[in-house]
Amino acid sequence: MKARDLMNMAPVIPVIVVHDVSTAVPLAESLVAGGLPVLEVTLRTPVAMDAMRAMQAVKGAVVGVGTAISGDDLKAAKDAGAQFAVSPGFTEELGRTALDIDMPLLPGIANSADIMRAHALGFKELKFFPASQAGGPSMLKALGGPFVDAAFCPTGGVSIDNANDYLSLPNVLCVGGSWVAPKALIDAGDWAGIESLAKTASQLPR
Ligand code: 3PG
Repeated sequence: MKARDLMNMAPVIPVIVVHDVSTAVPLAESLVAGGLPVLEVTLRTPVAMDAMRAMQAVKGAVVGVGTAISGDDLKAAKDAGAQFAVSPGFTEELGRTALDIDMPLLPGIANSADIMRAHALGFKELKFFPASQAGGPSMLKALGGPFVDAAFCPTGGVSIDNANDYLSLPNVLCVGGSWVAPKALIDAGDWAGIESLAKTASQLPR
């Protein structure tokens, strides 16, 4: 699967933080049931790799790694079965490793220079991060001038209230966000609540 295929699967990629691996499967099930099959499990907790492994058992889930910042992260995630990777920024080392190990990568960019370095290695599908702090929808509109074939997944400060401002742009294929998997609902085991958030998100027009 290519990065663009992942971005086309649903309007929202949930950015997931798992603290307790026993929540991984019901969380993935509720997101998939709500219509969000592409799951980004961030490397922000010690159980992230185990959570990713567990989620792969969920039918329909496409499980990838987030917060990948080095080539070693990509290799470890690949060993744990990750089907794609997302990074907060772009380095040549990260990009080259992704190409070497054939890992679909959605690298983070925040400005023109980042995009130029990513494009130089062939990456056209990019995460715009942190979206609201780095200029929001008007920044993406401006970047669409020089970078006509770049496709973005803005992430960071995106919510159900402003997702449309991004999704209505021609160079935005999907958005990312943690709002569909909030810690309070995960801790409470409120899987119906998460499914409902996912359902609303999955129906966002784009
Ligand atoms: C990310 O890692 O992509 C962001 O932390 C997600 O941002 P959000 O929590 O504002 O959705």
